[in-house]
Amino acid sequence: MKTHTSQKFVVGNWKMHTTSSEAEHLAKGIIEGFDRSEHVTVILCPPFPYLALVGEMLKGTQIALGAQNMYPDKEGAFTGEVSPTMLLDLGCKYVILGHSERRHKLGESDAFINQKVECALSAGLNAILCVGETLEQRNAKQTQAVLDSQLSQGLANVPPEFFSRLSVAYEPVWAIGNSLHHENPQQAQDALLLIRKKLSQICGDFRAQQMIVQYGGSVEPENATAYLGQHDIDGVLIGGASLKADKFLAIVHAAIAENEAEMQPV
Ligand code: 13P
Repeated sequence: MKTHTSQKFVVGNWKMHTTSSEAEHLAKGIIEGFDRSEHVTVILCPPFPYLALVGEMLKGTQIALGAQNMYPDKEGAFTGEVSPTMLLDLGCKYVILGHSERRHKLGESDAFINQKVECALSAGLNAILCVGETLEQRNAKQTQAVLDSQLSQGLANVPPEFFSRLSVAYEPVWAIGNSLHHENPQQAQDALLLIRKKLSQICGDFRAQQMIVQYGGSVEPENATAYLGQHDIDGVLIGGASLKADKFLAIVHAAIAENEAEMQPV
């Protein structure tokens, strides 16, 4: 039986997908197909323009609203950016930070991501910090060094009391949006164990054991149970499969079943 968490996380990262009517249709399908459960935390992260729409729909449900990014300041002259204050105002509880697409396609540095993590947590949001190596880094046996560096830089100077609102998502860059990749649940578990060990150094054993650590990278209904069954995987961060209500719900149900199985005494 696992000891570090009592609930699985299932997070849908819609990335830059959907129109307003598609967002409404998708959220409706997920809300209607989701039975309340104590054994899962479900979070939907639509694009910024649809946060208000989806947030309204999620009111009174057990599904939480999250954003995909934010700027690390409460307000100011930052054209085109979105603040934590605005996210809270729209009902967001979570924010994804340091996603590999923002690191590699938009050039975000660990120092900038660190500012975001600190700002999000001090504003009262729950932050999901994404880390992960590229294929070149993995092939060069740099996975541990990359994860260690992304964690120590991304979490530098974060006050200890904030760690209860932090989750880390391991998303190997080469496994994202690539169902033909060679990642397997055991490799993910190995990386997540490295992450939890590094977290122990950063915030102590107790906080590291309590922390929700997730996996993301081509999670589908067919492989969700295998990932969620790994000892150090407390949740899944889903891209492509979160855009179809039936697929997303199948993963949510796999998470509920896996959590219930783990709660059984051995
Ligand atoms: P896919 O599930 O499409 O591989 O995306 C994973 C991801 O990047 C979630 O943040």
